[in-house]
Amino acid sequence: MFSTKGGVGKSTATANFGTVMQLEDRKVYAMDYDPNNTLRFHYGLNQSDTNGHASLSLQGSPIKNAVTTIDNGTFVLPFGELTEDQLNQYQEKLLQDPFFLKKQIDTLGLSHDEILFIDAPSGSTIFTQQVLNAAHVSVVVMLADAASYLTLEGSLKLINKHCIGRKDYLGTMYLVNQIQRKYELNSDIFDMVQLQLENHIIAEVHQDQCVPEALARGTNVLTDAPESLATQDFIDAAQTMESFLLGPIV
Ligand SMILES: Nc1ncnc2c1ncn2[C@@H]1O[C@H](COP(=O)(O)OP(=O)(O)OP(=O)(O)O)[C@@H](O)[C@H]1O
Ligand SMILES: [Mg+2]
Repeated sequence: MFSTKGGVGKSTATANFGTVMQLEDRKVYAMDYDPNNTLRFHYGLNQSDTNGHASLSLQGSPIKNAVTTIDNGTFVLPFGELTEDQLNQYQEKLLQDPFFLKKQIDTLGLSHDEILFIDAPSGSTIFTQQVLNAAHVSVVVMLADAASYLTLEGSLKLINKHCIGRKDYLGTMYLVNQIQRKYELNSDIFDMVQLQLENHIIAEVHQDQCVPEALARGTNVLTDAPESLATQDFIDAAQTMESFLLGPIV
């Protein structure tokens, strides 16, 4: 999950796509690659638990030791809390090796029927580059607003640079989040996005207060509000990804 702009719903999408696929009996991992370390809140993990895969990588320990199994059966890999010095050291490793994250993920030894969602931090940083270099599928998360629309081209360039042409790359999907057709601007921009992304895979999720409410309860909307509009949207969006990009469960 990635976006050049922040606060668009990457972490929300990571947790909800993951839960849809977990309910379909896929083995799902959710990895936080954002040094803000906030994905754990979508899984109700303890705020005082500061461990994560980044500090293990720095120590040269296997990142599988950061895997935390949560109630719904998802395997979560929090980023963890790093000191400023540790974060600098970690970034140094990323600078030295553009495939550092890919190699770390390879150590998990995932099989073809297991799926790992990576929650990238916003912007075109060294973290995003690592995520794109490791991804088999990219989900560009955006809002139907001017800022997302204007940064869409930047996202396409990043995907072209890091993903397109790679043998193991399956494709890109665009997730337009917080759709509100009753607002003319939102509706118009969504139409413009659809025009610009003609022939691309697009999914939409409506704005729904059940989403932040679920987060406030430390869970996702599928678990917290199964009948909500956003739940149906996330199910549809995850199934779109499966139909066009992942294929059926083996
Ligand atoms: N469909 C939706 N309807 C209503 N609120 C939403 C929806 N999707 C996300 N939100 C809310 O928007 C906020 C931002 O979402 P989220 O944290 O997932 O974005 P992000 O892209 O991961 O942000 P960051 O760039 O800071 O990591 C959260 O409060 C979330 O609950
Ligand atoms: Mg986030």
